[in-house]
Formats: sequence, structure tokens, C-alpha cells
Amino acid sequence: MTPLTTLLGIRHPLLLAPMAGVSGGRLAAATSRAGGLGFVGAGYGDRDWLASQLSATEGQRIGVGFITWSLRRQPELLDMALAFAPTAILLSFGDMGGFADQVRRAGVTLIAQVQMVKQAREAAAAGADVIVAQGGEAGGHGGLRGTMALVPAVVDAVAPLPVVAAGGIADGRGIAAALMLGAQGVLCGTAFYACDESLAHPEAKRRLVAASGDNTFKSPLFDQLRGLDWPEGPWGLRALRNALSEQLGARWAAEPQAQHAELATQQTRLAHAREAGDFDTAPVIAGEAADLVHATSPASAVVQALMQGCDTALGRAAAITNRFQTPQRN
Ligand SMILES: Cc1cc2nc3c(=O)[nH]c(=O)nc-3n(C[C@H](O)[C@H](O)[C@H](O)COP(=O)(O)O)c2cc1C
Repeated sequence: MTPLTTLLGIRHPLLLAPMAGVSGGRLAAATSRAGGLGFVGAGYGDRDWLASQLSATEGQRIGVGFITWSLRRQPELLDMALAFAPTAILLSFGDMGGFADQVRRAGVTLIAQVQMVKQAREAAAAGADVIVAQGGEAGGHGGLRGTMALVPAVVDAVAPLPVVAAGGIADGRGIAAALMLGAQGVLCGTAFYACDESLAHPEAKRRLVAASGDNTFKSPLFDQLRGLDWPEGPWGLRALRNALSEQLGARWAAEPQAQHAELATQQTRLAHAREAGDFDTAPVIAGEAADLVHATSPASAVVQALMQGCDTALGRAAAITNRFQTPQRN
């Protein structure tokens, strides 16, 4: 229990990250049922998709996560999410602007995911109830700073607001470490990617389970190939390297004019690849914690393993402290 678990009314200080195309209603509901808080990743704004995923949450308390710059193009999606009475709204990537007031007016907890201390201060001033400090180890879009130094700096900058650590946390040791850094909970994406309830393609899950964080890279390449015009900002997309990224990354770096000539063809190729299960072409979006994901399993088993692992790690830390404590004289 931490003040965060009390605020959100959850058993474990564990949040499922809103992952576009991966965190749908079933995964969010399964995480919440297991004692964490699941977020549906509203991603790049498909109204019908969001409606169907919200209706798949089986009455569980869940949150909804938006990519803020994309939400600005379809602000009505926030009305739709708020009408569903979520436990929290999570806004990532970009200035929250008027969305912060709208969420708070609705009486819903506002969580802001940030990549820098400066952004954490801005989000706190804009009225966020909780700050997620996301280190660059994270799967998907993220910044340059590492989780280890970013989390305590954000904790200090926004105290007494609760801070949640994200990026590279996929076992109990990571949760224990985050608590030691002053976070009151964690937000995990990669750890849940290969869950049975995840919307990721079965072949993508298989590749993640087989992968190491060594094989991830951060670049705008897959955004360009997916035709997603992310605005300029301190973020890149972390994904597993594959045949296409190796081939194009090298060629386009050496011959920038080739990128211009080939982009449309490669975009069409990538658009068909995901449905076909061709992940030599389509990206598997995951973070450095890929090393720690060893199997596909139900979300409830992931939650249980993470929390039991955290207990074990905290118990080990307590044992070390006891061993080195000077005996008290009376
Ligand atoms: C497949 C995938 C998709 C993601 N999509 C989103 C998204 O749509 N919105 C968002 O705020 N964050 C997204 N993220 C980032 C997560 O919110 C979170 O910061 C990250 O997963 C934490 O790091 P971890 O992957 O090491 O657990 C995504 C991450 C992954 C792995």
C-alpha cells in the first residue's frame, strides 16, 4: 500500500501502460481484476475502436490513456472517455493545455506522463494529481533520460505529488528499486505486451519473448514508415530491430535522397505486413525490459509474479540491512 494505491483505490501499486494497439479493454480489465489499474491505450484516435474497447472492460475500474498531441486533433474522444467514468485519465507527450481542467472538472484523477524534470513541474502546475516519470528505457515513445536518475529528481521536484516510475521495469526487482527511488508505484508496458489478453499479434509476442533489450533501438524510422507525423519533441520510438529497420536505417542514413524516393512504397509494404504477421517488416514496439519477459501468460499471472517478486526483493533488502546493522547495546 502507498498513498497512490489509496488515491486510485487499487490493491497493488502497479499500472498497466496505455499501449496503442496493445492495451485494449480485455487487458486493462484483466490487470484491474488482478489488483492493479489497467489503462486502455486510446492511441491515435479511432472512435469506433475506443468505443468497442471500453465496452470490453467488463465493468472493471480502468483508466484511459491519450497521446496528447493526437487528442488535440480529436478532442471529442476525451468527452467519450470521461462519459465512461474512468478511474483516471493519463495524458502523455505534449502540453496538456485545457485537457487538464476538463479532466479535473469531471472529478477524474489526472495522471501526466513526462520525460523530463521540467515537464514534471509544468504538469504539476497544470493540475496533475499523479506524475509518471518515464525513463528512456521504455518501449514505445520516450525521452533520453534514464529511469534511475529521472525518478528521484521528479520525486523531489513535485513533492508531495505521488510519482510513478516507468521505463525498464518488468520484474519485482524493478518495482522494489522504484519504491526505493521514492516512487509510489510503477507503470509497465513491455511486461504486459505478451499477455494472452494483449492485442499484439501472436508472432509479435513470440518475438518479444525471444528478444533481448540489446536488440532495441530508438529512432523516428518506424513512425515515418507508419505515416505517423509525430511533432518535433524530445522523444523517439523504441522498438526491436528487424530486417527492415536494419536495411533501411543504414541505406537512408547513407543516401537521404533514397528515403524521399522510397518512402511511399515502404509505407504501403509496412501497412500490409502487420496483418500478415510479417515482423521482419512491421515493428515490434517494446523496451529494454524485453530481457525480463520469458513467456506469454495471463495478465493476472504477470501481476502476481511482479508483486511477489517485489516482496522478495524488499525482503532481501531488509535482510541485508539487518545483517549490517550495529547491534544495540543496552
Ligand atoms: C507497444 C507499446 C505501445 C505504447 N503506446 C503508448 C501510447 O499509446 N501512449 C502512451 O502514453 N504511451 C505508450 N507507450 C509507453 C508506455 O506508456 C510506457 O511509458 C512504457 O511502456 C513504460 O516502459 P516499459 O515498456 O519499459 O514498461 C507504449 C509502450 C509500448 C511498449
